[in-house]
Amino acid sequence: MPTIAFELDRAFRTAIAAAFGFEADPLIAVAQNEKFGDYQSNAAMGLAKQLAEGTGQKANPRQVAEQIRAKLDLGEIATEVSIAGTGFINVRLSPDWLARRLEAIASDGRLGVEKTAAPQTVVVDYSGPNIAKQMHVGHIRSTIIGDAVARTLDFRGDHVIRQNHLGDWGTQFGRVVLAMWYEAVFERTGNHAKLDELIEMQQAAARDFPGDENKPKLAAALAPLVREIAPLHQRFVGEDPDGTRYFLPYLKENALQLDELERAYVFVSALTDNPEAGKTVIIHPTHGPRTLAELPRLTTTFIQNPDLPDNEQEKLAWEKARAVTLDACAEVYRSLGVQLADPSIQEQPLERGESFYNAFLPNVVQELRERGLALVDPDDGRTVVPVPGSENPLIIQKSDGAYVYGTTDLAAVRFRIRELRAKRVVYFVDARQSQHFQQVFWTAKKAGWAEGVALEHAAFGTMLGPDGKPFKTRAGDVVKLKDLIDEAEQRAAAVVLEKNPELPEAKRGQIAHAVGIGALKYSDLSKDRASDYLFVWERMLSFEGNTAPYLQNAYVRVHGIFRKANAIGVEMKPGTPIRLDTPHEKALARHILQLDDAIQLVVRELKPHHLTNYLYELATRFHAFFEHCPVLQSEEPVRSSRLRLADLTARTLALGLDLLGIEHPDQM
Ligand code: ARG
Repeated sequence: MPTIAFELDRAFRTAIAAAFGFEADPLIAVAQNEKFGDYQSNAAMGLAKQLAEGTGQKANPRQVAEQIRAKLDLGEIATEVSIAGTGFINVRLSPDWLARRLEAIASDGRLGVEKTAAPQTVVVDYSGPNIAKQMHVGHIRSTIIGDAVARTLDFRGDHVIRQNHLGDWGTQFGRVVLAMWYEAVFERTGNHAKLDELIEMQQAAARDFPGDENKPKLAAALAPLVREIAPLHQRFVGEDPDGTRYFLPYLKENALQLDELERAYVFVSALTDNPEAGKTVIIHPTHGPRTLAELPRLTTTFIQNPDLPDNEQEKLAWEKARAVTLDACAEVYRSLGVQLADPSIQEQPLERGESFYNAFLPNVVQELRERGLALVDPDDGRTVVPVPGSENPLIIQKSDGAYVYGTTDLAAVRFRIRELRAKRVVYFVDARQSQHFQQVFWTAKKAGWAEGVALEHAAFGTMLGPDGKPFKTRAGDVVKLKDLIDEAEQRAAAVVLEKNPELPEAKRGQIAHAVGIGALKYSDLSKDRASDYLFVWERMLSFEGNTAPYLQNAYVRVHGIFRKANAIGVEMKPGTPIRLDTPHEKALARHILQLDDAIQLVVRELKPHHLTNYLYELATRFHAFFEHCPVLQSEEPVRSSRLRLADLTARTLALGLDLLGIEHPDQM
């Protein structure tokens, strides 16, 4: 069903054309002050200016408004059209007209929300965790906001392709392989305790010397570890130069936990970054001497270069690390109720990591060079795309031949447009990557890959703790998503227990999950994503204010009415006409009919907080209605009319929460 705003737009447009002989945007908005009406047109002021410029004579906005009103035919829609202030045209909607619209949407599963007139293929790039690492708070916003927007676009009728751009390539590659190699050789030679000991020492040093200001001290503390591991490293290379003795069997037989892999990965990163590693030489019987610092990068270029001898072990290691990472991510997605763990949701694979684009990278660079967009920097040998307005160019290939993050994103955007046929590609990524996306988008456009395609970086701010600083654990570490999820559920369980101690335990567990996860997600979704986001447990779990528990509770209360009706033998008669006799009923009705506007705004701006605001206001208006308008105590036909309003409220809440990916239990 066309929205109210759309109906008014059409009528005002016609009136303006009839009054002045040209088309103009009537600038329809929801009324600022409900005292004067429900909607307003703000066009008269601008039109007066425009008319004055055309004729050279002054035009009075109020008179312009009068002229529009004289031509305006709102039929049954309005009971009153008035002019206020400098020329605002206020429209008071007819309660009968609103009631008929409500009746029309009551039989519709979509509650009157239209599908988009021009559906398009939209790629939604979200979550994007990194290999060999637990998902941490840096990915929570992307995962939660991206998922809600994907659901909403889908509901509007777009063909949505979710893409999880797993960070599984680049320099991490060599580190991950080396980390797994350490796990393998220490394990297989019965020395794992030694590795654990070294890792614990590295972790202790990291704790003792945090932050940039302690860098020299940290480096000094880690140098002895490099010296200690070097002879062991050398020994294992000697014992197993081609990897068939320790590495391959380990890769094939040993189970690996992500926590273990992450530990080893961080350890390898710390050690190979240490200045001492640059002086530590490991001699390979066939490949010759290399410093420890060189090894990760060497492995990376090695595998990125398809012409080099086959790398079965590296590939196996890689696949294993990917599988372990993705399993852990899937668990997080399932707990969060995020669609990235559900392959049945779309035909295309949900995950295409950076490594997927590896085969396309040489051609991306070649194409950009042929078009004269990319050039080799004579000073450092890197291949770069100079982007106007950016101080630094976009790097697409390092002097050693290695490709980087930007190359992969260029290959990805080209693939999404050429192969997936996307007309809109949206990226839910931290605002700190804004320059990166500007450069990638500019390059893709210049290369002619993105003709008629919208490329949008839906950037978000940083997640801050209650102290206003980036959110960290008490020990100063990055917070892992799975720990955050556990804490949300525990805290919610306590809240639910206090609120409703009689609930059976299993039921309480389900509700605690819905409330905890709902609160975690809603608190993020309800803020404008562009700003930094203050993370405060107490606030998000509160039953008061713009929170998930408040909305979930509103839903439960509406259900409570029907439960009670049932208990006293009262039924809603669905055929009863809806009547909007009181201001509270009318305000609630009008708001229910604005769901489509909120959804359209989410789709256009990629900002789910428009929908959360809408739902919060819906719940608030419902409470006001319920307080002032007796439902079950009323006589028919008022009772059924009000029950129908309650029913529509519940269904609107449910639909809205579904689009946000938030559960709505019947009971709390
Ligand atoms: N892995 C990246 C990170 O952790 C996010 C990937 C975002 N998507 C993309 N196409 N670059 O920062």
